[in-house]
Amino acid sequence: MNKLPDDFLWGGAVAANQFEGGWNKGGKGISVSDVMTAGTHGVERVITDGIIEGMNYPNHKAIDFYSRYKKDIALFHEMGFKCFRTSIAWTRIFPNGDESEPNEEGLLFYDSVFDECLEYGIEPVVTISHFEMPYNLVVKYGGWRNPMLIDFFLNFCEVVYKRYKNKIKYWMPFNEINMIIRKPWKPGGIKFSEGENELLTKYQAAHYMLVACAKAVILGKSINPDFIIGTMLLHTTTYAATCNPDDVMAHIKKLHEAYFFTDVQVRGEYPSFQLKFMEKNNLDIKISEEDKKILREGTVDFIGFSYYSSSIEIANPTTEDASEGNEIKGYKNPLLPASEWGWQIDPVGLRITLNWLYDRYNIPLFIVENGFGAVDKFEEDGSINDEYRIDYFKKHVEQMKKAVLEDGVELLGYTTWGCIDLVSAGTGEMKKRYGFIHVDKDNDGKGTLNRTRKNSFYWYKKCIESNGEEL
Ligand code: BG6
Repeated sequence: MNKLPDDFLWGGAVAANQFEGGWNKGGKGISVSDVMTAGTHGVERVITDGIIEGMNYPNHKAIDFYSRYKKDIALFHEMGFKCFRTSIAWTRIFPNGDESEPNEEGLLFYDSVFDECLEYGIEPVVTISHFEMPYNLVVKYGGWRNPMLIDFFLNFCEVVYKRYKNKIKYWMPFNEINMIIRKPWKPGGIKFSEGENELLTKYQAAHYMLVACAKAVILGKSINPDFIIGTMLLHTTTYAATCNPDDVMAHIKKLHEAYFFTDVQVRGEYPSFQLKFMEKNNLDIKISEEDKKILREGTVDFIGFSYYSSSIEIANPTTEDASEGNEIKGYKNPLLPASEWGWQIDPVGLRITLNWLYDRYNIPLFIVENGFGAVDKFEEDGSINDEYRIDYFKKHVEQMKKAVLEDGVELLGYTTWGCIDLVSAGTGEMKKRYGFIHVDKDNDGKGTLNRTRKNSFYWYKKCIESNGEEL
């Protein structure tokens, strides 16, 4: 077979907090993303204590998918999407996170979104929690440092599993679960207090999230045995800077940081390198015998991952070596070009990642994020000629195909990140655009929100139509 399978899931991916808007509509509560201000390239977003009047919170209105979902989904259909990855805003269903009864209006909204997709034959792929946990769970319970979060999360899972059990097959409990170690606010609602043992807090929170994910797998299967439930990993694709064995070891250590999560989630137990790491750092993580049993039983069906760029590891780096990139950063590779935001472009890195993950775990993979953040401009005739984005996707799809067709990797699908322009999670900017569809909104929140098809829209449509044959 030298073609991708006919049921290959081509599509696009987004997250509720970055594109829905309607932050206080339909009974929705405040999420951790709602208290993040806009930053810019190189300027961190500020996390405020509650909502402060007069501050610019870009996620509040985002791109208003909340009221425009029908037209947006029609555009996805026009591109030929086979699937659409989105998340369910936890705060639409449980505005404070600790209620026992869900918010019906929130549930109805997702009924409409999923029904709209299904009408077009688009399979929804759902991330249950993507950087949008209820802010109340932070204020009252301290976020994922508190084991009570497991039950609150499971309650949320149970409600959405039961409600959408005949509409959704593919689920991922958490987006980029390993981000908790580097940027614990968005996935875990964790801000450190003075004197807190940060490493201990982060790894304890990671443990609770791993247990929650395993329980979510077990629960999901008990509600519908046909559910396909995966993890979602921010893959830190990295190479040793040289053949100096010290650089190679630095590279292995970096990979361990991510593989700790997938080892637990696929193999069902803590890997020995992680046990040693915890011992060496005196991390007395609370792990009960019951937790161990749950981790063994709640292993995942597939690994979803995000891949944007790669970096290198150096045993003895200087500050000048530092590279930019997605939240888990490495060092600059002198052989690779980079985007305007400094993310190094490495299509072969995608093939390498697919091979590494498949060699290690032998379960199906799903590329659930891949994309190119860039500044787009309108031409005089009103078009947007985003050749750079087409070039990026073309080269990545070529490498993805090689991994499947030449290396034998089992791959469920490919969803490009930010198929419609949305708020950047890292910087809070609109200017950093990923979409095939342009949204008229700038960094200050001004614009008509009108949608325009970019040239890449037509390229992706052709790519999907030909099942990746015409690039
Ligand atoms: C991933 C996240 O880390 O990268 C997305 O899952 C995010 O939420 C994406 O938007 C791209 O990062 P950024 O910072 O360019 O938005």
